[in-house]
Amino acid sequence: MSEQAFPPRTASYEADPEQVGRVLLLYSGGLDTSVMLRWIGERYGAEVVTLTVNLGQPGEDFEVIEGKARQIGAVDCYLVDAREEFAGEYIARAIKCNALYGGGYPLFTALGRPLIAKLAVDYARRAGCDTIAHGCTGKGNDQVRIEATVATLAPELKVIAPVRTWAMGRDEEVAYAREHGIPVKGGSEHAPYSIDDNLWGRSSEGRWIEDLNQAPQDDVFQLVALARDAPDEPQRIELEFEHGLPVALDGERLGLVALIERVGEIGARHGVGIVDHIEDRIVGLKVRDIYEVPAATIILTAHQELEKLVCTIHQNQFKPGLDRQWAYLVYAGLWWEPLRSDIDAYADAVNVQASGTIGLELYKGTARVITRSSPNAVYDQSLASFAQSGGLFSQTASPGFIELWSLQSRLAWQLRNRG
Ligand code: ARG
Repeated sequence: MSEQAFPPRTASYEADPEQVGRVLLLYSGGLDTSVMLRWIGERYGAEVVTLTVNLGQPGEDFEVIEGKARQIGAVDCYLVDAREEFAGEYIARAIKCNALYGGGYPLFTALGRPLIAKLAVDYARRAGCDTIAHGCTGKGNDQVRIEATVATLAPELKVIAPVRTWAMGRDEEVAYAREHGIPVKGGSEHAPYSIDDNLWGRSSEGRWIEDLNQAPQDDVFQLVALARDAPDEPQRIELEFEHGLPVALDGERLGLVALIERVGEIGARHGVGIVDHIEDRIVGLKVRDIYEVPAATIILTAHQELEKLVCTIHQNQFKPGLDRQWAYLVYAGLWWEPLRSDIDAYADAVNVQASGTIGLELYKGTARVITRSSPNAVYDQSLASFAQSGGLFSQTASPGFIELWSLQSRLAWQLRNRG
């Protein structure tokens, strides 16, 4: 462990090492933040309080994480169950905006970070901390999301991000942990995937994933079944929406957290929601992620279908552009940007009409819409029907419409094609 001087600070919100007295550490229980807990105490001579946030990451034992933090030396530990807030204030907005970044990533990590950072601010203030520490690297998006949030909501708090400066690789971290009696999960023979997960999905990065030529290896999929292992019988489900949000699965009303969990389990069983994604990060680089997003895939597919049904052609042409901008802002760490909430206001307005039921068939990796119904559908079966003629307008009026509708395009075509 080098005891060099601290590197110079470049941003106003970065902590002056002299001023660091009590630190709130965003603690996951993993290797980086466990080493960090002890390292901050040693390097800054500071007290460390930990905050661990439950966003519905499957299979996590939060009691164990808290015990580990105390064992490593945290003076205080907070554990917050933020699943309701995450679903109600973050995922719900993503659903109304059909939020997918780069055409495939439903933003679960990007949605979670501003909430985690907001809670860090709340608990840092409550616990009398002057500084917030996190375990993000200097190459990723998550540092941007967390630090932009802290700097926005709490100009008085400072930030430290030890991974950016401590120059330890995984081997050095494992050595540091062993030396300091910090428990290390798993062997050191194989660097693990870099995982992040919550209620809305799971991502894996690193190892062979970085080699764009490599097809996915089966061991990366810990959530979603491989299509070849999925049941041979398709399963039909019905999702009911009220004002843009899912409220019932197969007729059973459920809160949003429970509904997302339930839909996720069913989707995972049928192999739905595997996305092999090349992504433009905010920080210059491109990255490949393997996503497992069964709940998001099913719910977004159904929501989008319902919107299509209840919106006019003009709304349907307009909204995807706003949706894309919303997803980009959230991906890019600007959750607190007013344009984001402006777009939310539009999405809310549109979604007042988005009530109804969408049926899907899940089968071997696909989720296909098969039925739709809504009292607000801008659809009249008798007008659309092949079997019926007549109705609200006369078909003999159509040629007049076509002549005027195509007028400018025809003139322009003639101009371009003369001679
Ligand atoms: N590429 C995704 C994003 O930027 C997922 C990042 C996952 N984070 C992680 N620390 N492994 O949102």
